[in-house]
Amino acid sequence: MGKMKAVLGLRLGPGHDTGAALVCERDGELRCVAIAQERLSRQKNSREFPEHAIQACLGEFGLEPDQLDAVVFEKTNWAYGSKWYEQVPGAHWEHWTDPKERAFFASAAETPCYFANHHLLHAASAWHTTDWAMDGEPGALLVIDGRGSTWGDGKTGPGGQFHTFREMDAESTGEQSLEKIWKMVLFDHRVETQSIFVGRGRTIERKEVSLCSGVGLFYAWLTECVLGFGHMHAGKTMGLAAYGQSQSDLFEPFPDELFDGIDTDLMGYIYEHLRAGKDFRYRTNEDPTDPYFADAAAWGQRELLRAVMHLARRAIEQTGARRLGFAGGVALNVVANRQIHDELLDTGKIDDFFVQPAASDAGLALGAALFGYYNILEGIAPFQKNQVYLGPTRSAQDAAALLVEHGGKREQELIERVADLLLDGKIVGWFQGRSEHGPRALGARSILCWPRPDWMKDHINARVKHREAFRPFAPIVQEEHASEAFDADFAVPYMLVNTMVREQYRERIPAVTHADGSGRLQTVSSTSTPLLYDLLGEIRARDGVGVLLNTSFNDNGEPIVETVEDAIRCFQSTNIDALVCSDALIVKPE
Ligand SMILES: [Fe+2]
Repeated sequence: MGKMKAVLGLRLGPGHDTGAALVCERDGELRCVAIAQERLSRQKNSREFPEHAIQACLGEFGLEPDQLDAVVFEKTNWAYGSKWYEQVPGAHWEHWTDPKERAFFASAAETPCYFANHHLLHAASAWHTTDWAMDGEPGALLVIDGRGSTWGDGKTGPGGQFHTFREMDAESTGEQSLEKIWKMVLFDHRVETQSIFVGRGRTIERKEVSLCSGVGLFYAWLTECVLGFGHMHAGKTMGLAAYGQSQSDLFEPFPDELFDGIDTDLMGYIYEHLRAGKDFRYRTNEDPTDPYFADAAAWGQRELLRAVMHLARRAIEQTGARRLGFAGGVALNVVANRQIHDELLDTGKIDDFFVQPAASDAGLALGAALFGYYNILEGIAPFQKNQVYLGPTRSAQDAAALLVEHGGKREQELIERVADLLLDGKIVGWFQGRSEHGPRALGARSILCWPRPDWMKDHINARVKHREAFRPFAPIVQEEHASEAFDADFAVPYMLVNTMVREQYRERIPAVTHADGSGRLQTVSSTSTPLLYDLLGEIRARDGVGVLLNTSFNDNGEPIVETVEDAIRCFQSTNIDALVCSDALIVKPE
């Protein structure tokens, strides 16, 4: 074995989306694997110790914990203030509460372990996956999420950053709406929520931080409390916004003064608003598209755009940079990303814009591994740009053979056969190679169908996805043909930038045209996912459009399938009509 450098990055609980990533440099080449615990444990948004993810990452390179050069981890709600990362006595650290944590770090007793700041790792996940470090020019990095690390006195340990509303105001009327907002407001301002960093070469430095309840918590409050969608469902609010009137009289814009500086303390304002006796309606069983709730979503989306655009402009000003990287959960808002694209990139205010595909906390482990490699070990091998299919190789091993064991057949004419099925209105599970990293299915673990029939959206919901009827499904198209049906003359490889379906195409692809005419497009190149690229070409040759509906390969509420076995199980337990694993195909009898 040649010279090696290996860093394991971890996102630990009790926060959501625990996971692991490993970067391994051998003979000057950098390879990477990253996987969320939920994909392997099959518990969505897992908060447990990521033991399965760690095993999968170590297994990818045949490593044991004590062969690692560093372990870098992030642990939600633990204080971190004066330093951004710090070596800790991994094996003997007093703060481990979970026996599995203790056991893992004991197994890596000889490996230096580092505890690192949440927003720093989001920033690292964006910076180090571009090639921007190569030329020494600065880049702005914007991080916006619900909340990151506790901003304390630099001592590690559990933070106590929240007061409940009742603690703050014992005289409160105890109204449910007020009580519900308690966890969305940071009264003592000890948690990072919005940060601007500057990257230059391999270094990443923080320029500004907000410790107020920013736009991420506002959107989470709207999603959870007003719209009643529950925790971690901001995507539903974004989808619902298309049904509402953002200028509705029911909801006032936030005052302009709030959009000044790094803070945008929107929840602080909501809190005062409620204390003044103004209240909201809170959805229980009503249809979400009821005008009140649809308007609320549209209002929230509009105010989010104001905040994100203000912060993006500020990031550019504060850093003097001409390129912008974006991470943190709010960076999954495709409508905001489109506005940044149009207002900053298209107008020449910046030259480049990149959103980390695993922008949510699912990307922290990757950020940790990359930070460890580049910033702690000072590694220099470049990360291969545009890598997103980072799942463990083993998940897809023998995919075709396994499907054959379950009655599938290897197909010489796979593309033609699958195109026949799709144009016949069939729903096809599509499993190819390593899984995509992050929350969106990008053609490695997808369910595909033909978006032409106007009944297709209801059909796929009734038979497989069981999602709320108002939520859109996403289109997928060959990159060079994207601008025919969509207002996109640029690649959208990670489904992170919103597009509009051109007027004359809306009736031709109704199942992927949202209520406002938008489509959350993914563009596919011949190099990223060649088989899918060919399939889209075949569809185009037959229907003259070449767009498919692409949705994540899972049932509602489940994590996306990871292994071939998961895919076969999901195929068998739902009404998916056919399943493709590598070059093998199985079709359910009529
Ligand atoms: Fe985060």
